[in-house]
Order: sequence, then structure tokens, then C-alpha cells
Amino acid sequence: MADLRIELAGLSFANPVTMASGTAGYGRELAEWYDLDCLGGFFTKAVTLEPRAGNPQPRVCELPTGMLNSIGLANPGVSRFLTEEITWWEERNTLLFVNVAGSTIADYTECCRQLGAVPRLDGLELNVSCPNVKQGGISFSADPVELGELVKSCRAVTGLPLIVKLSPQVTDVAALARVCEENGADALSLINTIPGLSIDITTRRPRLSTGVGGYSGPGIKPVALAQVHRASRAVGIPVIGIGGISSAEDIIEFMLAGASVVQLGTHNFIEPTAGRSLIEQLDRLCGTLGVDRLQSLIGAAVMPASG
Ligand code: SIN
Repeated sequence: MADLRIELAGLSFANPVTMASGTAGYGRELAEWYDLDCLGGFFTKAVTLEPRAGNPQPRVCELPTGMLNSIGLANPGVSRFLTEEITWWEERNTLLFVNVAGSTIADYTECCRQLGAVPRLDGLELNVSCPNVKQGGISFSADPVELGELVKSCRAVTGLPLIVKLSPQVTDVAALARVCEENGADALSLINTIPGLSIDITTRRPRLSTGVGGYSGPGIKPVALAQVHRASRAVGIPVIGIGGISSAEDIIEFMLAGASVVQLGTHNFIEPTAGRSLIEQLDRLCGTLGVDRLQSLIGAAVMPASG
């Protein structure tokens, strides 16, 4: 058996397979399928300071190469999250990260302050990349100054590991990655979804109520790999890879590109037990590739000087 453990931001992951925010609810939903304690970690659906109903239906749409979503950060708000969801996690050992979203810096900061006091949590993931809301979300990824202020403000109110989830819809991901690092982020996660559109040719209407939504799934994997590679070369903090992962081979590819751990997203909707089976497949693949210690693969791709 290979050593699948990964060290990241002072945390020990049993393996690099974690669940991406928004693809497995707050845990209970996925736990109907398998014991989540086998996972390296779990990232919750976004939590905001106040409850949010989200965007009108339809807000998901299946595509041949993935899916579109326009959920609009629907969630019960931080108070209900803390009273209704955390107790369930206290009986489980998987590393637990809460994805935090908001409209203003003050929203994010207050949410991080409240969550920072919860002993069961292992880290916070700042969602500065949701493409489906009018205020906040991706707008923070577009402005390095605002992004820096946001990270700094959240850093000041919590000692928990702080991960910043970046958008692919930026001109220079390396510059944004550096801004996050300089302002106290412990790690980055990327990529979030890419804006996408699907139109029903009979009704001539978009398949999502909002028109454009966030595109995810296997089709975005090469974009994600390029962004992970660029960001990881630009900073000294670790990078978490997200984007179209559906096999153990994909996980190895992300690690070679520079990811320390990965998040499994859209594939959960196709194969709900994928988290568990990918860990088993990864162990077998390490045997085939002659890899004893998975951590040794991080950033080990042999890239051309220009790449
Ligand atoms: C959503 O709730 O609209 C999706 C979350 C995200 O893209 O970060």
C-alpha cells in the first residue's frame, strides 16, 4: 500500500481526496452512500451570514460534458449552520472545512469570526469566485486590492487555516494568488466554475433561470490544470486542485501540476460513492506507477521552461 497522507497548512490529510463545496451538501446528504471518514476532507456548501433562498429554478442543467449551475449560494445562514449541522460532524473524524461567502468584506469577516470559534472545524475556505450572485462572489476575484483587504480582514478574526477559492475568470491568477498569500492565506483552492450558457432551441430560452451559470465537469479539467500550475508556481503556500476530476489518473495529474490535495465535485452527481472508490483506485494506481509516497508527486511535472 502506498502512503497517501498529505501535509497541508499544518493539517494531516489521510489522503488527497476531499469533497468540493456545493456538491455534497453539509455532509449528511452524502453519508447516506458511504462513511465519510474515509475521505481526506470535506468542504461544505457555502455559508453566509444571513440565510439565502438562492436563485429561482431551474438552477441546474446537465450537459454532455458536465453541468451548469446557478444556485445563488442558497444556504440556511451561519447561525442555523452552527446549531443544525455541526453536532453531526462531532461524531466524525474527516477534516472539515466551511466554505464562506458574502456580499461585503464585513459579511465575510463576521461569518469567519463566528465559525472561527468552533473547535470541530479544521479550516475555512473563502469563496471569492461564485459567478451566480449580483453582489460579492466573483467580484472579489476581479479586484486585487479588494481581495487583499478581504483576506486580511478574515485573517484577523480567525486562527483557523484560511483557504481562498479563486475563479478561473481572471487575467492573471498568479498575481491574485500572491495577493492572497501576502495577506495571510494558508492555501488556495482553484478553480471554481467557468461562466457557461445552454439554450433550449425549441423554447429559445436558456436552461437556467439566470441565463448564464457556472460550468463544471470534465470539460473544464485542462483549464483547471493550467490555473493550478500557474498559481502553485507563483506562491509558497499549497494549492488545492478542483475541476473535472473523475478518476485516480486525474488526481495524479493535478498533483503533478502542483496541487497538494484535490476536491471532487461534479462527478459526485454521477457516482455518489466516487470519493470512496477514487481513494481505493488511487492506492492501486500508485502501485502501478511505483509511487511509494504520494506527497512526492506534488508539482513534479516536468514542464518546458516556457510552460
Ligand atoms: C452557487 O451557489 O451559485 C454556486 C457556488 C459557487 O459557484 O461558488
